[in-house]
Amino acid sequence: MKFFIDTANLEEIREAQALGVLDGVTTNPSLMAKEGISGDENVIQHYIDICEIVDGDVSAEVIATDFDGMVEEGTKLASLHKQIVVKIPMIQEGIKALKYFSDKEIKTNCTLIFSPGQALIAAKAGANYVSPFIGRLDDATTDGPELIAQIRLIYDNYGYETEILAASIRHSMHIIKCAEYGADVATCPLSAILGLLKHPLTDIGLAKFLADHKKASSVTV
Ligand code: E4P
Repeated sequence: MKFFIDTANLEEIREAQALGVLDGVTTNPSLMAKEGISGDENVIQHYIDICEIVDGDVSAEVIATDFDGMVEEGTKLASLHKQIVVKIPMIQEGIKALKYFSDKEIKTNCTLIFSPGQALIAAKAGANYVSPFIGRLDDATTDGPELIAQIRLIYDNYGYETEILAASIRHSMHIIKCAEYGADVATCPLSAILGLLKHPLTDIGLAKFLADHKKASSVTV
């Protein structure tokens, strides 16, 4: 399973990269705004900065919602760096844009996926990734992780190579559920990745090992 980090915060990206388990980054307009990144030049520089920290795919989302606008913006984003993946919203014009980029061998991530049907048509249009938003489904009292299982089944039935990029992950258990259901990638906040490390019995066990070692070392023979 690949781990992406879902942030535009360079410090968090550096911290995740330093762990040695990071495979990529996803951003969106809200995450960019949260970091105060605005204006074409700043946005472009920020994507380049992210690509230079991480050795893996970096999703950069188009703002346009019409085919021509998405093609123009996506082509520009893709030209910034070889790691850029163009993020396209799941709308009718977006499907056309996914097909266009697929034909040009430009990588895409179809975002805002909330149903198996949306994931199916995005795969047919040639998306490299689909991003089902499992946390937002959970928020709406629908079983988010279950969507991952449905998409996995459909993709395996027909051999679609589109990767399932579980998104809108809120906590570490979401990552576990996505792994159980066969997501190819989970894009997560740093806290959810670090949460995977933790177990109180590990802390208790380590404290005991260190205490026993100290005791044995202080015994003089
Ligand atoms: C995915 O690529 C999105 O950036 C993200 O996961 C959305 O998550 P949210 O529901 O926490 O905003």
